[in-house]
Amino acid sequence: MLGQDLVARLRSRHTVIPFTRADADITDAEGITAAIKRASPDALIHAAAFTGVDRCESERDLAFRVNGEGTRNVALACRELRIALLYLSTDYVFDGEKKEPYTETDAPHPLNVYGESKLEGEAQVERLLERYWVVRTSWLFGPLGRNFVESILGQARRGATLRVVNDQTGSPTYTEDLAAGLEAILERGGPGVYHLSNQGFCSWFEFSQEILRQVGLDPATVIPIPTSEVGRAARRPKNSRLANRYLATEGIPPLAPWQDALRRYLLRTTEIAK
Ligand SMILES: NC(=O)c1ccc[n+]([C@@H]2O[C@H](COP(=O)([O-])OP(=O)(O)OC[C@H]3O[C@@H](n4cnc5c(N)ncnc54)[C@H](OP(=O)(O)O)[C@@H]3O)[C@@H](O)[C@H]2O)c1
Repeated sequence: MLGQDLVARLRSRHTVIPFTRADADITDAEGITAAIKRASPDALIHAAAFTGVDRCESERDLAFRVNGEGTRNVALACRELRIALLYLSTDYVFDGEKKEPYTETDAPHPLNVYGESKLEGEAQVERLLERYWVVRTSWLFGPLGRNFVESILGQARRGATLRVVNDQTGSPTYTEDLAAGLEAILERGGPGVYHLSNQGFCSWFEFSQEILRQVGLDPATVIPIPTSEVGRAARRPKNSRLANRYLATEGIPPLAPWQDALRRYLLRTTEIAK
């Protein structure tokens, strides 16, 4: 989902060489090194991942092979070729027990296999490289992939009763805005860990209500439910809020409020649909 918006954003000021899984499978150490060598970039953005959070529970080995060892392969190639690496990570490295938003220095403690495997990816990057950025983001939505916004709109338009969890809080983050923030970190941010999400927080229930409100549907049709009623394979943190503290210390402006990002997303997808 993120990759395509990232390429579109970076292309205006940089030479970009996009990779798909067919170009470079990160679980193939030799193949990924050869692909990176051929491209020979100044910096590499690693956004590839096994992102099926519930599937990771039953496919633990695959999760670690892709998100842990795969990231190690990428980091080793970057070390050998002296290339700076930006690795995308997740709010799910935290257990959600903190009462305040998580800062970059809070200790991770994942609740699920996806979070564990992404944290292993972070550890590999930090262990192997000096020129790296680890950027944790949350609750992505964008026009080019599986998407919570479209799922809510689809269900609402079919007249389905929407029951949405109200005890997980985070920041919905628009891939276009995230891409702009990543570009700023690449261009001006010192190495290290960053939190990067659209501003403001909500629950999935509140996010759903705002989606309906913005397209002129009735937000009162959404029913709030607790996570315990959903029965998903992976546990999720109650608190996924990320304080984007290091963005400010690097002099990079914060991303827009999530409601504003949603408005621009809906305008863009309406244009695409025309
Ligand atoms: N989505 C979110 O809400 C969210 C939240 C926080 C952080 N993140 C992180 O942000 C990044 C981008 O997320 P996203 O939602 O854009 O993910 P996505 O839509 O699931 O895309 C992941 C990409 O990785 C590729 N991939 C999977 N296994 C691979 C392998 N072995 N070798 C090479 N490529 C492989 C996938 O290819 P195929 O299409 O061929 O499978 C896909 O193109 C990820 O690092 C994710 O962990 C996402």
